[in-house]
Amino acid sequence: MLKARNTSCGNSRDEAETEPVVDWVTLRADVAAGSARRPKDVLGRTVRRFTSYRSRMARPCLIFLALAIGCSAEVELRVFGEAYAEQGIEPDEVVGGWALEFSELVVSLDDVRLSPQGEVGDGGYVFDLAADSSRRGHLLATTDAGLGSVNMAHFRVAMPTQVVGGNATAQQIERMRLEKLAFWVSGRASRMGEDVLFAWGIPADISYDCPLSTDVAAGDVARVELTMHADHLFVDDLEVGAEVAFDAIAGADSNSDGSVSAAELGQVSLAGLARYQTGGRRDIDTLWKFIGAASLTMAHVDGEGTCTPRLVPDAFADPTPAPTDPPRAMALYAEHCASCHGDEGRGDGPGAAGVLPAATDLTALRGEASTLPYIAFRIAVGGAMFPYASSMPGYADSLDATDRGLLADYVAGLSGP
Ligand code: HEC
Repeated sequence: MLKARNTSCGNSRDEAETEPVVDWVTLRADVAAGSARRPKDVLGRTVRRFTSYRSRMARPCLIFLALAIGCSAEVELRVFGEAYAEQGIEPDEVVGGWALEFSELVVSLDDVRLSPQGEVGDGGYVFDLAADSSRRGHLLATTDAGLGSVNMAHFRVAMPTQVVGGNATAQQIERMRLEKLAFWVSGRASRMGEDVLFAWGIPADISYDCPLSTDVAAGDVARVELTMHADHLFVDDLEVGAEVAFDAIAGADSNSDGSVSAAELGQVSLAGLARYQTGGRRDIDTLWKFIGAASLTMAHVDGEGTCTPRLVPDAFADPTPAPTDPPRAMALYAEHCASCHGDEGRGDGPGAAGVLPAATDLTALRGEASTLPYIAFRIAVGGAMFPYASSMPGYADSLDATDRGLLADYVAGLSGP
């Protein structure tokens, strides 16, 4: 789960490119234990290697090593759904007096890292935040964040791929994978002898950057908490002044089986629900789309610290330049995209008539949407998940990386300067 690099200073990736990797773990253990090897040998070898590094952190690290303290500066990363996820939401906090209780609140995380330093091993983590953590949050990893301070936590919420940790069961992970879900929620709402069950999975793909300020001292174990505000799943306003509400959700049980599903929520039009405020987003037209959008506001850090959503995940941040092949790019576009986006990209293809959200006018992309990483990401994953919730298919499985690169270039060129 964790990188073996438990004690190091400076940027280990740069060092690894120019120098053989030093086994700091063994080295530190040797020094601390006063091993049979003569310390002079150990330190002598260390000095030679350090002086050949250009890292400005090398010397302070050496001093610490010499003092047999090492450069260990650990941070415990935890994930917490607050008392809400573990103990439920009291009736006096819910409009209409419903008591809400989670059986499961499963979240799938990926690309977890701290900056300026603090890698967590590659792979995903799936947690059921309804499980009891004695209010401490569930441990995701302990990582070396270097000395100084951690000023940002990063993570992606998306369907699980390569899962390397977490407390979710194999069945929970399998369901998330099969249904391409980022969240799974189930539980019970009760009011005066009336019980309504709820159970739905939310497909999403969104990354977050969360500013924080955690001091990390040598020999200390600092703590960073990714806090998921479970109550946001039931809020009635996507902007300010939201309250937790359940009446409309309870009323969505159209087949009266005592349990509310995503499909049932999708049948409830927001037009008739004055309580629900979208902040002017017209693409959010059903209770289901509202709940999907609200779920993306759950992510926080260290309790109330806010996170900035980022659309493009790490893996797409630096796209490899595609070869140029304009005829092939045009043919691919005509075959795969024109049906919705139109022959010239103006969003007027027959396949897009009457769908909400409408197929985008690709000749008018602006801001982040006009960047190559974003376009490449969208071509790969499509739109079946929040925040997009659209009919656009993903092409990661049907087109290879070269063809997707050609298409991304072509689409980026449609918007003009
Ligand atoms: C079935 C219809 C459909 C097909 C086919 C389709 N798209 Fe889309 N696409 C949409 C819809 C609807 C949206 C707007 C909602 C969204 O962002 O998902 C969209 C959005 C996009 C966006 C994001 C625009 C923005 O402003 O965020 C890009 C880029 C894009 N499509 C590119 C493509 C490319 C390239 C292809 C072909 C490989 C393609 N689409 C195929 C329906 C489609």
